[in-house]
Amino acid sequence: MTGSSDAFVLFGASGDLAAKKIFSALAKLEATGSLPDRLLGVAKSGWNVDQLRDRIRDSLKAQAADLDPLVVDALCRKFDYLDGDYRDEATFQALAAKLQKIASPLFYLAIPPSLFGSVADRLQRNHLTKNARLIVEKPFGHDLASAIELNRTLLRIVSEDRLFRIDHYLGKDPVLNLVYFRFANSFLEPVWNNRYVDHIQITMAEQFGVADRASFYDEVGAIRDVVQNHLLHTLSILAMEPPINASAQANREEKTKILKAIPPLGDNRMVRGQYQGYLEEKGVRPHSTTETFVALQTSIETWRWSGVPVFIRAGKCLASTATEIMVQFKRPPVSITHEPFPPGANYIRFRLGPDRVEIGLGARAKRPGPTMVGQPIELVVMRNQAGEEEPYELLLGDAIRGDQALFASQEAVEAAWRIVDPALNQDSPIYEYGVGSMGPAEAAGLIVQNGGWHDPLGPRTESPDAHP
Ligand code: BG6
Repeated sequence: MTGSSDAFVLFGASGDLAAKKIFSALAKLEATGSLPDRLLGVAKSGWNVDQLRDRIRDSLKAQAADLDPLVVDALCRKFDYLDGDYRDEATFQALAAKLQKIASPLFYLAIPPSLFGSVADRLQRNHLTKNARLIVEKPFGHDLASAIELNRTLLRIVSEDRLFRIDHYLGKDPVLNLVYFRFANSFLEPVWNNRYVDHIQITMAEQFGVADRASFYDEVGAIRDVVQNHLLHTLSILAMEPPINASAQANREEKTKILKAIPPLGDNRMVRGQYQGYLEEKGVRPHSTTETFVALQTSIETWRWSGVPVFIRAGKCLASTATEIMVQFKRPPVSITHEPFPPGANYIRFRLGPDRVEIGLGARAKRPGPTMVGQPIELVVMRNQAGEEEPYELLLGDAIRGDQALFASQEAVEAAWRIVDPALNQDSPIYEYGVGSMGPAEAAGLIVQNGGWHDPLGPRTESPDAHP
C-alpha cells in the first residue's frame, strides 16, 4: 500500500500517553499540514466529543503552550470521538459506520498490549483492515514466545509493510544523528572496529523512580522496559554496516544483522539491582524481585566487532538522568613518555539527552611546560540544547505517510527478544542500591578490567569546555 492514510484513529484517546505525547505531536503535524482531515479518538470514558476536545486543549496547554491557537482550534475541530468498550462488538460497528467513506485508515493502538490482538481482530471482523495501517506501542510482547505469538496474530490481520511497531528511541533526533555522524564522516570508518575499539559502554540513567507506573513496571523490569528495545536498537545503529541505500528496508536489514549477531545473555555477565524503597512503592508486589537496574556485558559476533566487549547499564533512582554512549579506543601500545598512558583517554562520547545532546572526542594532550606530562582533554564536536523535535511527531508523521524506516521490524523485535530471553527468569540475585547512587557496587566488577564505568554528568550549571 502506498500513499498517505486518510484517517487517524487513536485507541486510548483518554489515556496518559495521549495526553503526554500524542496530542502535542498531532498538533505539530497539524501546523505543518501533515494530518489527514479525519481524526477520531476512541476510549471508554463515558465522554462526548466536547470532553475529548477539552482534554486535548488541556494537554496542549501543558505540553506545547507556545502553539498557535489557530492550530489548536483546527486540531480540535478535526477530532471526532467514539465512546465504547474495546471488548464490545458494538464499538467496532459504530466505528465502521464512522469510517464509511475512509479508504485507508491508520489505527493507533495506544492501549494495554493485552488488548492488541483482540482489537485488531475486531477491526478485521468489521472489514476495517483491508487497506489499513496499524501502529502498536511498546512493550511488544513480554518475552520471545509472546512476541512471536503477537506478531503472528497481527500479521494475520495486516501485512508487515502496514504494521508499525513504535520504539520512540528510534525517532529521537540524537539517535538519528548517530546514524548521520557515523556515515557522514569517513575518518571514523578506519577505527570503527575491533582493531581500534577497546569496548563500548551505554548508560541510560534516570534519577526518578517508578512513580505512578509501579504496577506496570513491576511486571516488566529494566531489561524488558529499556534494554530489549531502546538500548539494543541504539547499539545496533552504533554498530551496523553502512546500509546499501537510504531505503527503510536497507536500514532495517543492517540493524537486524547486528541484533542477530549478539549472543543470548547469560546470568554470569549480568548484575540486577533494586533501589531501596522500591518494595514500598504502591503497586509493587510484596517481595518482588523485579530489577530497577541492570548492568550487563555482551558482544557482537561479526568480523568488525568480535572481541569488543559491550557494556550496557540502565536504572531508575540513579544519580542523574542522562543517556550516554562511550566508544572507548585502545591505548597506544607503547608510551613515549615516562608516564604510562592511562586507559580510557581516547573515546567518542555521544550524549543523547535529555537536557543536552553532545558528541565529545576524548584525547590526551601535553601540559604546557618542560616535562612530557599530559592531561585528558575533550574536544566538543557538537553541543546542543535538547531539541524541540518530539520523536512522536516524526514517527506519527512517518506512519501516516507509510514510511517504516524508523519502526522496528518483526525480525528485529524477535532478534532482540532472543538476546534477552534467557535473562528474564528473575532467578539471578538482586542487589539493593541506594537512591541517588549509580546502582549496586557489584556492577563495577563487570567492567573493572576495561577501566570502569563512565558516569554521565547531570545537567550543566555552567558550560565548561572540557568534560572531566
Ligand atoms: C520508556 C520506558 O519506554 O522510555 C520508561 O518505559 C523510560 O521507563 C522512558 O523512562 C525513557 O524515555 P525518554 O524518552 O524519556 O528518555
